[in-house]
Amino acid sequence: MTGIEKSIDEARTAIEEANLVFFLTGSGISAESGIPTFRGAGGYWRNRSFTELATPQAFAADPRLVWDWYLERRATCRSCRPNAAHRAMAAWSRNRAATLVTQNVDGLHERAGHPRVVRFHGSIWRNRCSACGRERDADEIVYPDLPRSMCCDALERPGVVWFGEAIPAEAIESAHQAAALADVMLVVGTSGVVYPAAGLISIARLNGARIIVVNPEAMPMEADVVLPLPAVEAVPAVLRRSGRTLSDSAS
Ligand code: OAD
Repeated sequence: MTGIEKSIDEARTAIEEANLVFFLTGSGISAESGIPTFRGAGGYWRNRSFTELATPQAFAADPRLVWDWYLERRATCRSCRPNAAHRAMAAWSRNRAATLVTQNVDGLHERAGHPRVVRFHGSIWRNRCSACGRERDADEIVYPDLPRSMCCDALERPGVVWFGEAIPAEAIESAHQAAALADVMLVVGTSGVVYPAAGLISIARLNGARIIVVNPEAMPMEADVVLPLPAVEAVPAVLRRSGRTLSDSAS
């Protein structure tokens, strides 16, 4: 057995023995679907500044610039499909105790049929009234005129969390609860530098969870098992025929 095969085996056994598994995902899980990451090679923040595109101040200063960037990303997401990693997680979670927290706004976990997705950073497929915060589903990829809300006739903004903004309270609460209870956390495709999402790893670790990291690049993250592979290879491999089903544990 090679070192990687041993690590996959170790990860699979940990998942198999766990009562609750926590999946934490970042943009790297969607990389093979064709959606750029933020900080890696070809990542959005390599040639753009998040202060000009992903803050409330940026939107106030130039809503057209910000909307155009999000519409371009919507078009990219629409043309991409969930990959083997999204699909394996969704299938595995359908009859087992698992929590998925994603920092991604692309909607690919949902399109893969994941039973419940805790969206830490909102969704690119939602518009929010900039006056009252009311949200609606939205899938347009062109706005000749910037969209205005029905409720307040104010500018709508993308329904995502920007730098300097709070994570939705419900998402924080479910994520903290699950991180404290999880036996295993599978961290896939995140650089782990954006808080509070990155803090979930420490919460899980401090509460005794084993941390398994899937990332082709070396990460300065404390982990029990590191799988230096693309998500499409590692995730299906560690979830293959592993884990008791809920009906197994009930019987
Ligand atoms: P990053 O771009 O910071 O990190 C993506 C990670 O995925 C990197 O560590 C890559 O090495 C890894 N990666 C690349 N290809 C991969 C593959 N095929 N399989 C597995 N891993 C792969 O993206 P995030 O950690 O998601 O926030 O970034 C967190 C937040 O920062 C985002 O939600 C966004 C961003 O700014 C906001 O916009 C608020």
